[in-house]
Order: sequence, then structure tokens, then C-alpha cells
Amino acid sequence: MEPACGEMRQIKVGVLGCGTVGKGVCRVLLENRALLAARLGMELTLARVADVNPMTPEGLGLPEGVFTTDPSRILEDPDIPIVVETVGGCGVARELVLAALRAGKSVATANKALIANHGREIYETAMASGVDFMYEASVGGCMPIIKTIRESLAGNRVTSLFGILNGTCNYILTKITHEGLDFARALAEAQEKGYAEADPTMDVDGFDTVHKLAICMTNAYGMHVDYRDIYVEGIRRITPMDIEFARRFGYRVKLLAISKNHGDRVEGRVHPTMVPVKSLISDVNGPMNAVMLSGDAAGDIVLYGQGAGMMPTGSAVVSDLVDLARNHLCKACRRVPVFSFQDSCMAPARLMPMDEVRTRYYIRFAALDRPGVLSRLSGVLGDHRISIHSAYQKGRESDGPVAVVLLTHEAEEKNMQAAVKEIEAMDVVGARPVLIRVENQGAVED
Ligand code: HSE
Repeated sequence: MEPACGEMRQIKVGVLGCGTVGKGVCRVLLENRALLAARLGMELTLARVADVNPMTPEGLGLPEGVFTTDPSRILEDPDIPIVVETVGGCGVARELVLAALRAGKSVATANKALIANHGREIYETAMASGVDFMYEASVGGCMPIIKTIRESLAGNRVTSLFGILNGTCNYILTKITHEGLDFARALAEAQEKGYAEADPTMDVDGFDTVHKLAICMTNAYGMHVDYRDIYVEGIRRITPMDIEFARRFGYRVKLLAISKNHGDRVEGRVHPTMVPVKSLISDVNGPMNAVMLSGDAAGDIVLYGQGAGMMPTGSAVVSDLVDLARNHLCKACRRVPVFSFQDSCMAPARLMPMDEVRTRYYIRFAALDRPGVLSRLSGVLGDHRISIHSAYQKGRESDGPVAVVLLTHEAEEKNMQAAVKEIEAMDVVGARPVLIRVENQGAVED
């Protein structure tokens, strides 16, 4: 039974864009109206929903007169202090967000590309207008990652964060892992299920993840991190063969967003990563997301949930609306700073170049099965100060090349890249080697 409430004041919300996420926001506001009122002490009223397509709200049960095709009916309505942007993309969405902020309205969005590309401009506009800008739903769908970094870990120096922030890639990698599908087949299934777009580039090449990582790093460290400065590599080259070798070594392959705080500099990278089978992250399957945040006082925190979808993303946007409404009610704008730190304390990003990153590596060569080949390969690695942890060679079935797989101890990226280049040029080595970085963070002890 919903809690009963007496006479209530109301605060009006306008939603710009009525696609999947916009619909989710509308549904949460409409379906949980009494619950929200009981929590807020006032009605959070869905006053206006704007979309260019008049057919979009069909079946949504919007009250009479709420829908419009004209965004100015939200932007120019002085009785609507809170606006949701769910248009998507960086063109019209950017213009609408800036217009809403300039009109003195606080804005909530789920649009990570917009924040990653125009976050600073939006932030400065919000500062100048004395309003709030919130974006919990931009990273990890329903998981409260931004809130956890900004509020729950406010007393911590964030020491690292890593996780699965793209459900499409995780779905594809899960299919390759558990059903032995190749990348193309797994991608086709992800498209059939509606997880992957017709053009899957943003997801499978890691760009969606790198946008989200830049947003998390900005909040974690109080520095404006540009996603273009973060190393990114997608999952197109991952094969069932590599996943099977990973299993033999006790690992699974995930597309990870990784960041580590080295004090003077921070590390940020997105790439396929081998994680221990005995770790929470390795058990995150299908389209699910998970992130492990570490703070110097708190230790490790793991969040797990649906990173996309109408209702999970709608849930995250509405959590921002509740915060914005509370701020509005208390006339307490930006009680929590937009990017976690006071404006005067935001620093320029100090990113460690990828070349200097240290990690462990899995490397698979196609090499001729001849005497001395393994020692030549290990010799090159040794020359570049890379120490081998374990090796495996697949038995020869023909005169063609065989798979030689090496797992290394920790090494520097530039040394590994130089070694791979040298090995690629060897006459006994065939196709381009496959390199997958290995992280043992988050391993669970027996
Ligand atoms: N395309 C994203 C994913 C969802 O596959 O996780 C939206 O961020």
C-alpha cells in the first residue's frame, strides 16, 4: 500500500525527448508518483513532455495536455524549474541543455556523450546561471556510481576504479565465453536482442566505455579528464581461442574501464582485460554492468546492475530529479558540486601516458613449430625486460603455424609494444600477435 499524504505542494518537471530513456523517466514519475511524494514531501509533477514525433508518447498514459512537439513550452515556462534531457547525441541535446540552464532551470540527463564532449561548457553555464546539472544515469544505468563517488566516498581519496560499463560488449564476450560463438555471430545476436546498435562502433570499439570512464575519473579525482586522452581498445579481435586459453590460465576476458590513482598522476584505460575467474567482475554476465570503486578509507565497494534499458535508466534520472527537487525546495543549489569538487579546486588532468602503464600481459603468437622458436621469442621479451610467468604451446596438427601463448609478469607497456614489433618481424611468426592485458585486482581468495 502506498503511503498516504495530505495536501501537497508540487514541483514541475519537463522532459525533453521521449525515446526509450525519456519514456522510462515518464513511467517512473507516473507509476511511483505517490511514493515519490511521500519521500519528497511534495508532488514531483510531470508537467510537460516534448518530442519532435507526436506518435512517441503512445501507450505511455500521459495526462491530457502534457505532450507537446514544441520544446519552448518547457524552456519558456517559468513554472517548470527542472528539466530532463533525454534527446541523446550532442547536437540538439547540447542546445536544449544550454538553453534550459540559461533560462535558470536545473537539468538532469543520461547523455554521456554530451557530458564527455561538452561537460565543461555545460558546467560553466550551470555555474554562471546558478543552477544544478546532474547526470547519474550517464554511467552504468541504474547503478549509483556518480552518487557513490561524489557523496558516499566524499571522505576518501579514490585509489582506483575499474569495471564493466558497457552491456553490449559484456553480452558479446559472455556469448563467446559460454557458447563459443565468434565475434561476428555474437554481435549479430546482440543486435537481434536490441543490445547493439546497427552501427555497433560506439559500443564494441570502446568509445561508450571511455566516455563513461572520463566522467567517473573527473568526479573521482577532481580533474577535468578528456576522454580523448584515455587509451581505448575494443573487443573486435577477441576470439573463442583466446577465451579458451584465458580459461586454462584461470581468467575470463572482459572489456574493462580501468583507472588507478598514482598520486601525482592518474591512469585511465579501456581495453579487453583478463580478470581472475575467482573475482566478482568475472561473474558479471550478459548485458549487466559492475564497477569496483576503492577508497583509502572505505576499501572496496562493488556496484552491480542494469547499465541500460528504459526503467533502470529512468530510475537513475529520477534519483537526480529527487535531488534537484530537494535542492529547489531548500533553495540550496549545487549543495553537491557538479563534478564532486569545488570549482576552485578542480585541477587540469594529469594522465599517465599509456606507454608508462605497468600491467601483466597475455600474448598469443602464431609461430612455426621449429627448434629454438620459443627461446627466440622469450629472448626478445627478455631483451625488453619482460619476464615470462607461464607458457603454453598448442600441439602441432599440420606443418602450419601453431599457437604459442605466453603470460608475463608485470611489464611496462612501451617495452611490451617494442617487443611485439620485433617479434612480428621474425620469419617464424605469422599473423599479428594478440595482446590482452591482465589485471589481478579484485581476485577473491578461497
Ligand atoms: N550502449 C550502452 C551499453 C548503454 O551497451 O551498455 C548505454 O550507455
